[in-house]
Amino acid sequence: MATTSTILVADDDSGIRTVVTQALVRSGYDVIPVGDGTSLMDKVRSGEGDLLVTDVILPDGNGLDMIPEIQALRPDMKIIVMSAQTTLMTAVKATELGAYEYLPKPFDINELTRNIKAALDTTPGDEGTFGMVALDERLPIIGRSPAMQDIYRTIARLLNTDLTVMITGESGTGKELVARALHDFGRRADQAFVAVNMAAIPRDLIESELFGYEKGAFTGAVQRSPGRFAQADGGTLFLDEIGDMPSEAQTRLLRVLQEGEFTSIGGRTPQKTNARIIAATHRDLRQLIAEGQFREDLFFRLNVVPLSIPPLRDRIDDIPELAQFFLKKAGKAAGFAEKQLSDKAVKHLKRHNWPGNVRELENLMQRLTVLVPEDTIPGHMVDGEIDARHETSSVGGDSGGLGGSAERHISDYFRAHRGKLPASGLYDRILREVEKPLISLTLEATGGNQVKAAAVLGLNRNTLRKKIRDLGVDIVRGKK
Ligand SMILES: Nc1ncnc2c1ncn2[C@@H]1O[C@H](COP(=O)(O)OP(=O)(O)O)[C@@H](O)[C@H]1O
Ligand SMILES: [Mg+2]
Repeated sequence: MATTSTILVADDDSGIRTVVTQALVRSGYDVIPVGDGTSLMDKVRSGEGDLLVTDVILPDGNGLDMIPEIQALRPDMKIIVMSAQTTLMTAVKATELGAYEYLPKPFDINELTRNIKAALDTTPGDEGTFGMVALDERLPIIGRSPAMQDIYRTIARLLNTDLTVMITGESGTGKELVARALHDFGRRADQAFVAVNMAAIPRDLIESELFGYEKGAFTGAVQRSPGRFAQADGGTLFLDEIGDMPSEAQTRLLRVLQEGEFTSIGGRTPQKTNARIIAATHRDLRQLIAEGQFREDLFFRLNVVPLSIPPLRDRIDDIPELAQFFLKKAGKAAGFAEKQLSDKAVKHLKRHNWPGNVRELENLMQRLTVLVPEDTIPGHMVDGEIDARHETSSVGGDSGGLGGSAERHISDYFRAHRGKLPASGLYDRILREVEKPLISLTLEATGGNQVKAAAVLGLNRNTLRKKIRDLGVDIVRGKK
C-alpha cells in the first residue's frame, strides 16, 4: 500500500464497530468508526474515508437508502454493505444500488478484509453498470439463516448475467422458487419463464416437448407444435428434475447448448435459441454420472453456477417465520383469520425432522388453518397433525386404520367450519389428499420406478403419469 487507505465503519452496534475496527487496524488501514452521535453523511460530506463499510440499519437512517446520495457526493467512494437483517431484498437492493460488495452478518472478518482490499484495488468503472429492476417489496423467499443469506447473495450477484445455474437440494427445499427469483430479478424478467419437469413427462415425449415437432413427425402429430425452447426464447428455461432426463434427450440437449441452435422433431431448419438455462434436481448428479446415468459433459455445461439449498432441518431458525408466512397465506386462501403459533407449537415445529422440507411445513400450516378452531395453534395439535400424517400413510395402522383417520379428518374439517359449509369442490380436494400420499409412497416403495408403481397400484402407466403431474407428486422420494 503506497498510501494508507481510510475506512469508514458505520454500524449502530458498538460491539461490531469495535471488532471490525480492530481487525482493519491490524490489517494496516486507518479507520474512522461512525456510530452513536456521529452522522455518516457528515463524514461523507467532509470528504473523509476512501471506503465505507456500512450496516443497513444506522442510527441516522437506512444505510441502503443513503447509497445514492453518498455516490452522488463521492463517486469514488467504494461501499461494502453488511447486514444481519438480510432478506433477498437487501441483497438485491445493495447490488442494484451499486454497492461493491454485500456481506450478510455474521461474516468472517477475513472475508471482509479480502473484500476491502479487492474493492480498493479496482478502478472506477470496473463494476459495470447496474440495471434497475422494479423491486417487489413482498418478495416471498423467507428465511434469514446463514444458508439462505448465501443464496440471496448468489442471486444478487447473478442479477445481470445470463449464467447457467444448477440448483440442488432435497425435494421441497425451494428450488423452483429460487429459479423463479433468479428470473424475476434478472434482466429477462419481462420475458417468459418456462418450467419443464423431466420427471413428469413420459420419457419418449421429452424431446418433442423441449424442441417441438412438425406436423406428421410421428403418429398423433396432427399439427406443428413449438417446443419449450422456442417458448422460452429471450427468457428462461427451467429444466426441473434434470437428473431424470433420459439419455438420448441428454445428448440432444447437450448439442443444443453447445451449438446454440436446435431442430424440431421432423424439422429441417435449425432455429437459434436464446434461452437462459436454469436446471434443478434433488438427485446426486455425481453419483448418477458414476453410474453412467448422466452425461458428465452435460453436467459441466449446466453446473456453471452451482447453488445448493440446504434441507429445512439444517436451518431450523427459519421455521417460525416460514410457518407464520404460510399461516397468513393459508388464512387468506381459506378466508379465515391468520392463526398464530403458540410457543409450544413453535418448539414442536423445530423438533420435527421435516423430510418434506418447506413444502411439508406449508402443507402442515394449511391443514392447521382449517383444523384448529382457536386463533392460536396449541403445541399438541402440531404434534398430532405431524403424527396423523405418518398414521394415514400406513394403511391398517392403529386407531381405525385409514378409514378411521379419514373420518376424523373430515369431521374435524366440517367442525372447523362451525355450522357453515365448506367451499365447493370438497370431493376432489379430499380425494387429492388421499391420492397424493398413496402415489408418492408407492413410488418410494418401488424406488421411483413408475412402471412398477403403476402395476402395484393397478393403474395404467399413463394414468399414473397424469396423476403425478396433476397432483404435483414429487418423484424425489424415489431413490432411497
Ligand atoms: N424460503 C421459502 N420461503 C417461502 N416459501 C418457500 C420457501 N422455500 C420453499 N417455499 C415454498 O415451498 C413450496 C416448495 O418449494 P419448491 O420451490 O417447489 O421446492 P422444490 O422445487 O425444491 O421441490 C413452494 O410452495 C414454495 O413456494
Ligand atoms: Mg420442484
